[in-house]
Amino acid sequence: MSEQHLLHEVDCNIAIIRINKPKVLNALSLPLMADLATLLEQYDADDSINVILLSGNERAWAAGADIGDMATASSDEMRRRNQFAIWEQIKAIKKPIVAAVSGFALGGGCELMMHCDIIIASENALFGQPEINLGIIPGAGGTQRFTRAVGKATAMDVVLSGRFLSAKEALSYGLVSRVVPKEHWFEEALSVAKQVATKGPIALRAAKASVLNAQEMPLSKALSEERALFYDLFDTNDQTEGMNAFSEKRKPNFTGT
Ligand code: CAA
Repeated sequence: MSEQHLLHEVDCNIAIIRINKPKVLNALSLPLMADLATLLEQYDADDSINVILLSGNERAWAAGADIGDMATASSDEMRRRNQFAIWEQIKAIKKPIVAAVSGFALGGGCELMMHCDIIIASENALFGQPEINLGIIPGAGGTQRFTRAVGKATAMDVVLSGRFLSAKEALSYGLVSRVVPKEHWFEEALSVAKQVATKGPIALRAAKASVLNAQEMPLSKALSEERALFYDLFDTNDQTEGMNAFSEKRKPNFTGT
C-alpha cells in the first residue's frame, strides 16, 4: 500500500490519520481514498484502538475529489470504476471517527467529513458542495447527508449556487459539532478524541451505530434497534465496571469485554 499521501500514528488508544497532499489542497485521488479506506479498516479491526482521529492540514481538510481523475471520464468509465464502493467501506467503520477540520472542506472533502462522527472545525474552515461549478453534482452523499444535516433550504442554497459556508454558519446549521480557535484546531480535536477514547469500546460502537440509525431508518425501527443495543450492553463486563465505578466513586477501567 502506498501511504505517502496518508500519514498515520498511534497515540495511546487513538489512531491519528493525516491526509497529506498539501500541493493540491488534499484533493482525494482514487488511490488515496482506497488507501484511506484500507487504513481505517485496519484500525477498526485493531483492539488496541478505541477512536480514530482524521485530519488534514491547516489550509485544507480536503478540497474535493481529484478533478484530474475525472476530467476526461465518460459515464460508462465512471460507472466501471465503482469508486463509491470505497465510500461504503468508510461508511462501515464501527469505531468513532473524530474529524479535525481546518481550511477547505469541499465536495468529496465535505462528504468525507460527513462520514465522520464528531466534527471539530477551526474558525477558518470553509464548507461547500461546489460540484455544480464543474457541471456535475455531488456523488458521495453530498445531496443527501448534507440535506439531512442542514435542511433543504440551506442545502439547496449551497448545492445549487456552489457557495461556501463559514465555520460559524456551518455550526449554526448543525453541519459541524464544534468550532474552535484557529490556533488550536488540531489540539482541540485531539482533546475531544482523548475524552471519547476513555469510554468503553463496546458502548461506543453501539452509540455510534444507534445515532447513525436515526439517519437511515424510520423512527419506530430505529427505536427498537436502540432498545436491542441497550439490552445487549447489560451482558458486558464494561456495564458492570461502569456502574461499580460510579458507586465506588472512581474512574471506570473499561476492558472492551
Ligand atoms: N482536485 C485537483 N486539484 C485541486 C483540487 C481538486 N479538487 N482543488 C485544488 N486543487 C489544486 C489546484 O489545481 C492547485 O494546483 P496547482 O498549484 O498545480 O495549480 C492547487 O490545488 C491549489 O489550488 P488553487 O490555486 O486553486 O488555490 P486557491 O486558494 O486559489 O483556491 C479552492 C482554493 C477554492 C479550494 C480551489 O482550489 C477550488 O475551487 N478547488 C476545487 C474545489 C471543488 O470543486 N471540489 C469538488 C471536486 S468534485 C467532487 O468532489 C466530486 C464528488 O463529490 C465525489
